[in-house]
Amino acid sequence: MGSSGNSVFTASAIAPAPEDPLFGLMRAYNQDPSDKKVDLGIGAYRDDNAKPWILPVVKKADEILRNDPNLNHEYLPIAGFPSFTSAAQKLILGADSPAIRENRVTTFQTISGTGAVHLGAVFLAKFHPRQPRPTVYLSDPTWANHKQIFTHVGLPIATYPYFSAQTKGLDLDGMLNTLRSAPEGSIVLLHACAHNPTGVDPTQEQWKQIAEVIKSRHHFPFFDCAYQGFASGDLERDAWAIRYFVSLGLETCIAQSFAKNFGLYGQRAGAFHFVTAPGPDAVEAVKNIASQLAILQRSEISNPPAYGARIASIILNDPKLFAEWQEDLRTMSGRIIKMREGLRARLEAKGTPGTWDHITNQIGMFSFTGLTEKQVMTLREKWHVYMTKNGRISMAGLNSHNLDYFADAVDDVVRTTAHL
Ligand code: LMR
Repeated sequence: MGSSGNSVFTASAIAPAPEDPLFGLMRAYNQDPSDKKVDLGIGAYRDDNAKPWILPVVKKADEILRNDPNLNHEYLPIAGFPSFTSAAQKLILGADSPAIRENRVTTFQTISGTGAVHLGAVFLAKFHPRQPRPTVYLSDPTWANHKQIFTHVGLPIATYPYFSAQTKGLDLDGMLNTLRSAPEGSIVLLHACAHNPTGVDPTQEQWKQIAEVIKSRHHFPFFDCAYQGFASGDLERDAWAIRYFVSLGLETCIAQSFAKNFGLYGQRAGAFHFVTAPGPDAVEAVKNIASQLAILQRSEISNPPAYGARIASIILNDPKLFAEWQEDLRTMSGRIIKMREGLRARLEAKGTPGTWDHITNQIGMFSFTGLTEKQVMTLREKWHVYMTKNGRISMAGLNSHNLDYFADAVDDVVRTTAHL
């Protein structure tokens, strides 16, 4: 008795894992007592007073929901809340999508975008007809969780070039060359808009070139769409790439998050869509896929959480509330664009060494500043400014009260570390 001789899970058997860098950063920020501290870490929208913003339309929908005498807390179906999933499908693919018309889409409500990427990853790992399973190509860089999710399900991963350190824009040639030489039938993870972490999106012309390579090499495009409407303020524009790929008859899957565009972060409302290619087999194939997804979903979460999806559904299915939501999206994206302009103008006015036009060229929640890890650490230690080590800043953390302070901080670290 008392002996550890029978233990399997000993400290030496289970190696300690590092803390998640992003949530670790959030913790460090919360613990910093400085009243000057600036949080540019996790991608969550803040208002001009650095406070979380409940969208006015979400407040309204929440009110409607809470006052609904028929509201209860019963289980949802395995695939989720039907009025939510059908609205989510139309939102991402377009109400007149040929894929919807031809019954080539299946949609599952998921634990936000992360759950959608995961469900897709599990499905591909288990059911991709090829052995060995194809490699998943991720952009370099990408959202850190992508690597974890695909590795976790046992799929091999590789990267394609995406960001040019020189131009701080898209490395289109690098990307296309790698996709051309990747084995036929590889899985290619694409950010539909507002690329995380770089804020660099292909133009529509560039998307066409990417689609052409993907089509000719029979790759499988897997879209992650976490920022529809949040990136440009325009729901259609932010979904353009996905709709274009679908219009080419490509089979694809899509992870859709409602965390950022509805400000429903903790409610975990999202959807996974699988679109089959047109053909005599398409409808039966999608039915079979849906039946397998149902088993996977049931074994992992049984059925998805209801509240956030009900809120989104109320808004998505009511034309008046939908219009108010579009207004709220423009409020968020508009404030972010203003912060981009303000930051660039301040750094250029100071003559901070380097070029800063990329701050306004990039789009969405993040900017990839080009600051080095050393500069990032100096910003944290000396200025109480928190951002990820790769130099990514969440633009939403900037506001009219801290913009001058942040520009002073960047100017200082760039000048003092320029020689290193
Ligand atoms: C981010 O990258 O900051 C967000 O997408 C939040 C997350 O879950 O990582």
